[in-house]
Amino acid sequence: MTPEPRILIVFYTSSGNTQKVAEAMATALSADWEKLRMLKPLEANIHGKSVGNFINIMRAGMHARGGHKADIQPLTHHPADYDLVIIGTPVYGGCLPAPVRAFCEQYGAQLKTTAFFCTGESLTNELVFELLQQASGKTPKATYAFHAPQILTGKFLPQVAEFVGQVMK
Ligand SMILES: Cc1cc2nc3c(=O)[nH]c(=O)nc-3n(C[C@H](O)[C@H](O)[C@H](O)COP(=O)(O)O)c2cc1C
Repeated sequence: MTPEPRILIVFYTSSGNTQKVAEAMATALSADWEKLRMLKPLEANIHGKSVGNFINIMRAGMHARGGHKADIQPLTHHPADYDLVIIGTPVYGGCLPAPVRAFCEQYGAQLKTTAFFCTGESLTNELVFELLQQASGKTPKATYAFHAPQILTGKFLPQVAEFVGQVMK
């Protein structure tokens, strides 16, 4: 009997959307998951109202567009131990949040097979998959762009099932 593939889902989240999708995927795929944490956290929520949040959105967007890498905390899982690593990211200014870029550049060479997903307010975020591919050096087996309003209303599980089907082909 062929053993089940070992799958790790690595994601960054600030306001929780990407984590919701990652957790649903982890359940569907019996996968482990790892949340990327910055050494100096930068909380930013597109729906937040405070001045501090607004400043953080500007900073996080500037960092993403500038191709910055954030220092991230050591991981609790070893990506090299997994047959497939799924990378999940919010879209910031059409680009990669600094902790996701850091993960891709630090660990990309160790990844055997990858798949990517993103969450964003826009319906046209496919460009971010090219950035993930460039930063990790890996061509993904599957990609999926989740729409944040559907995550907020809990209507994203059919999309998770579609992505899982592509990943397990
Ligand atoms: C700094 C910042 C920049 C953003 N830029 C975009 C963008 O360019 N395109 C988009 O579709 N959504 C953008 N968003 C919205 C987030 O991608 C979206 O809310 C995402 O689901 C947040 O994920 P999280 O809840 O896991 O942090 C931005 C949000 C922030 C905080």
